[in-house]
Amino acid sequence: MSISVVGVVGAGFMGSGIAECAAVVGKHVVVYEPDERPLQRSRESLEASVAKAVSRGKLASADAEQVADRVLYTTRLGDLGGADAVIEAVTEDARVKRELFARLDEELPDAQFLASNTSSIPIAELAARTSRRDRVLGLHFFSPVPVMKLVEVVTAIDTSEATVSTAEAFARDLGKHPILTRDRSGFIVNMLLVPYLMAAVRMYEEGFATREDIDEGMRLGCGHPMGPLTLCDFIGLDVLYAVCDSLYEEFKRPEYAPPPLLKRMVVSGHHGRKSGRGFYEYAPAATGAPA
Ligand code: CAA
Repeated sequence: MSISVVGVVGAGFMGSGIAECAAVVGKHVVVYEPDERPLQRSRESLEASVAKAVSRGKLASADAEQVADRVLYTTRLGDLGGADAVIEAVTEDARVKRELFARLDEELPDAQFLASNTSSIPIAELAARTSRRDRVLGLHFFSPVPVMKLVEVVTAIDTSEATVSTAEAFARDLGKHPILTRDRSGFIVNMLLVPYLMAAVRMYEEGFATREDIDEGMRLGCGHPMGPLTLCDFIGLDVLYAVCDSLYEEFKRPEYAPPPLLKRMVVSGHHGRKSGRGFYEYAPAATGAPA
């Protein structure tokens, strides 16, 4: 059965991007957040991104007008009740996610799947808070969601094959390329990406090279679209810290341990592009380019 109404929990950068992708392909979307302000920001960021898609020739302007109309923003969890499936994209905090899954289990008894966009929290831990572990899985999108083609489909210990097939078909419906991964911290991409990013942070922390030279090295030498420190700022240092923590907790390997500098930047509120300061400084309306 295909998914025509999608629930998205969390109206941050990832949740907004997932909502946009679903609305662009004609699905109806309900975005839930307990507070009005993030919903307002989400609405604005969707409109800006859709306008950019039109200006880049990725979306017809006639279709663009309908995209925003397909998205309902709500502060009431009960409004998710009519969704065929839900994707949770809240902060990377296991306690918050566990509680949410217990509530989603109550509110959406007929949903085809309950998915988490977590990058590193065990899906099994979230499934255990529901009465239908077979219909819980991970759907890990990449940032910026409207541009990045990949979705990791994370199969937890009790996820059924039917749920995996439905979720894969859903990802393809969104124009994404699904890859299958088991439920362990970091899945495929972050297990490879995080040690690389942390090596760059350590290199910078040790004063071995400037931030610009580290970034240019990988951009111009290896063809990466962004250097590692710019990418850290883009992902968000708070998010990366949480991912490192989960990976280290899971594997106890030094390459996953967050470097001391990362911790100090996070506690000081230097969270990267979104806070105006990370490894680089950003103007208020930052687009990802260092100031
Ligand atoms: N909707 C649809 N398409 C859009 C768009 C939008 N809103 N905005 C841009 N695009 C398209 C453009 O048309 C362009 O497509 P073509 O290449 O086909 O022309 C492409 O996206 C690039 O757009 P821009 O030219 O505007 O932007 P750019 O060249 O400056 O690239 C970037 C920006 C895509 C962010 C690029 O720098 C990049 O790929 N950076 C790396 C991002 C990355 O690594 N993300 C993964 C982070 S890890 C993660 O998310 C997981 C985790 O758990 C931490």
